[in-house]
Amino acid sequence: MAKKTQEPLKVGIIVGREWSFPPAFINEVNSRDQGVVAEYVRLGGTAMEEPIPYRVIVDRISHEVPYYRTYLKHAALQGVKVVNDPFMWTADDKFFGAGLATKLGVASPRTLVLPNKEYVPGIVPTESLRNLIFPLDWQYVAQYVGMPCILKDAHGGGWRDVYVIHSIDELIWRYDQCGQLTMIVQEFIEWENYARCMVLGQEEVHVMKYDPKQRKYYDEHDFSPALYQRIYADALTLCKAFGYDMNTVEFAVREGIPYAIDFMNPAPDMDVNSLGHMHFQWMVKHMADMVIRLAKSDAGTRDRYQWAQMLPKPEGKTARKRAKSE
Ligand SMILES: Nc1ncnc2c1ncn2[C@@H]1O[C@H](COP(=O)(O)OP(=O)(O)O)[C@@H](O)[C@H]1O
Ligand SMILES: [Mg+2]
Repeated sequence: MAKKTQEPLKVGIIVGREWSFPPAFINEVNSRDQGVVAEYVRLGGTAMEEPIPYRVIVDRISHEVPYYRTYLKHAALQGVKVVNDPFMWTADDKFFGAGLATKLGVASPRTLVLPNKEYVPGIVPTESLRNLIFPLDWQYVAQYVGMPCILKDAHGGGWRDVYVIHSIDELIWRYDQCGQLTMIVQEFIEWENYARCMVLGQEEVHVMKYDPKQRKYYDEHDFSPALYQRIYADALTLCKAFGYDMNTVEFAVREGIPYAIDFMNPAPDMDVNSLGHMHFQWMVKHMADMVIRLAKSDAGTRDRYQWAQMLPKPEGKTARKRAKSE
């Protein structure tokens, strides 16, 4: 009797300029013989009812290519599990993150958000910004965060627009050059140790010792068991709260307490040259494990959203079951 062959489940990856992770990841998935195949997504204009041939899509670059983000929301609507959730990524910012971390019991530097310095053309300050209090109370800002402090883009990434500030004058001078960015001011954590964690599938945490001054990862870490456990647990808490399946979380350790510095990295560094061979191998192997698990599961990006519950029910299925089973 002829054996029935099943169509493989497809995993797509959307990439930017990076060269080391994508091919290694695709090879790893395809070498597993698990009924799951990975490939680069190809796309160019998308119709609104277009089916998506992927069960899972790994997104490495939609923050720089807006059409990809829009496509990924469409893919989520069609039932695809998108890594990472494009809706949350769009809504995320570092001020909300710091506030949420604090409410969840994760240590966070004291943080304050500032109104923008400049606006899009057409905004007339005396007419359009009547809700804003001018001038800014810089004394209060400086008192709240202390000096030195950090000034950084609430939506930033890749170390762009991150400044260490030593005085109110310097703070005002820098702020004046920040244009249309929404900036946060943050207590500077004078750290004795630093960790960077890769968190995958909201369940696995790879804790790495990292030196941000040299931008260097170490193969070994020297965290005490108690510190390691707290870093591990806090990294997991943050990624579960945000619903990110592929994210790095940075902690600056001061007097034994890990402060969450940056946990909005939904397209985290996966480059072999910065990570080093050992961590890179971990990423490739565990990313492959995760997407194979997700491809075979009934997980969907839309499980988290109200609109998914409102989709018309097919015969004999509730909208929720349908959303989960597609
Ligand atoms: N509050 C802080 N205290 C001490 N160092 C900080 C603080 N915020 C940022 N840094 C340093 O600046 C680097 C870049 O800031 P980060 O928030 O990670 O921005 P990006 O998202 O651009 O990577 C961090 O890796 C850390 O070394
Ligand atoms: Mg960072």
